[in-house]
Amino acid sequence: MSLYIGLMSGTSADGMDVALVDFSSSVHLVDALCLDYPADLRTQLRSTALAPELPVKTIMQLDRTIAARSAEAVAVLLQRNGLSKADIHAIGSHGHTLRHKSQPDGFSWQIGDPSWIAEHTGITCIADFRRRDIAAGGQGAPLVPAFHQHCLSQGGKRMVLNIGGIANLTVLPTPGTELLGFDTGPGNALMDEWCQRELNCARDEYGQMAAQGNILHERLHDWLTLPYFSKQPPKSTGRELFNLNILGDLSREHSEDVLATLTELSACSISNAVKSHGYRDGELLICGGGLHNHFLLKRIQHHLPQADIKSTEKAGIHPDWLEAMAFAWLAWRTDQHLSGNAPAVTGASGERILGGIYPA
Ligand SMILES: Nc1ncnc2c1ncn2[C@@H]1O[C@H](COP(=O)(O)OP(=O)(O)O)[C@@H](O)[C@H]1O
Ligand SMILES: [Mg+2]
Repeated sequence: MSLYIGLMSGTSADGMDVALVDFSSSVHLVDALCLDYPADLRTQLRSTALAPELPVKTIMQLDRTIAARSAEAVAVLLQRNGLSKADIHAIGSHGHTLRHKSQPDGFSWQIGDPSWIAEHTGITCIADFRRRDIAAGGQGAPLVPAFHQHCLSQGGKRMVLNIGGIANLTVLPTPGTELLGFDTGPGNALMDEWCQRELNCARDEYGQMAAQGNILHERLHDWLTLPYFSKQPPKSTGRELFNLNILGDLSREHSEDVLATLTELSACSISNAVKSHGYRDGELLICGGGLHNHFLLKRIQHHLPQADIKSTEKAGIHPDWLEAMAFAWLAWRTDQHLSGNAPAVTGASGERILGGIYPA
């Protein structure tokens, strides 16, 4: 067995995903879980993402908290699989993004102190995967398309759509075409923010509330003119751009209508990205929490009637754990002194071995 662990805390700030992956033959997911964050940590992470200024003390405390959650998630995973630290080659930790700015003058910063993770798990921790790609002129994001290519490529018209807080699309290469991948814009982030801010609930379960609403067409039309959507890849984004503050005053609208319109914004920006850069009649494999939003999926299918839309599960990869698996894979790559970025996706000037290594 060649066991690696991947850790991922996404923009939704819902929890810490942890995946145990065996790379001894192909890519085999052994086990995975999500350690849900307590409500106060979720709230703190979400408000931190939008705060114009952050006290250093707050950052340092959160850095430690995310590291502690990471070590805890690893311990739970090891325990329930009857494994010890000696069985694991390395941990690949994404951490939690505090700030991400695309190029030019790009930067990306993830917290979750890797020294602390190495110390408290007794396992080598590889972390800070994005900044080497940025130093080489890339976006540092998305990083998952290289992993999609590694385990989901089959030479046909196939795309992978990860719907987290932000959504990212990978267009897998066919003979004669290059791998393409970029953030399409909002996934669940705006709907989640509305639910948390206005309705005191975590999310629109299965998209049920949005399904009852009417799309506010004028608003939708305005929102779709945001320059990000017409930018050519390579491109990446985050909650700095896609948060409710940029969408104007919605206080007089009915919640169901706002949710229907926010869901439609995600569905339209995703399907427009597929039409511009992918295959409208291709296979669209979906992963990430947004897969569970049935109404969002229905709207994506509505805009892409010829697409063959299904879960990545149909191609053998569990949709909830694919991103955490990608960071286990990136750790495996770095451990083998292999590059982890796809310059065609990020725009970096070349392939790079990613991350810093914090020995056990
Ligand atoms: N049953 C569900 N109904 C609607 N949305 C869901 C459901 N389950 C998960 N989600 C959405 O998925 C998000 C989490 O997805 P995830 O892939 O973990 O995103 P991230 O990588 O940004 O953390 C939640 O915040 C929520 O919006
Ligand atoms: Mg998540």
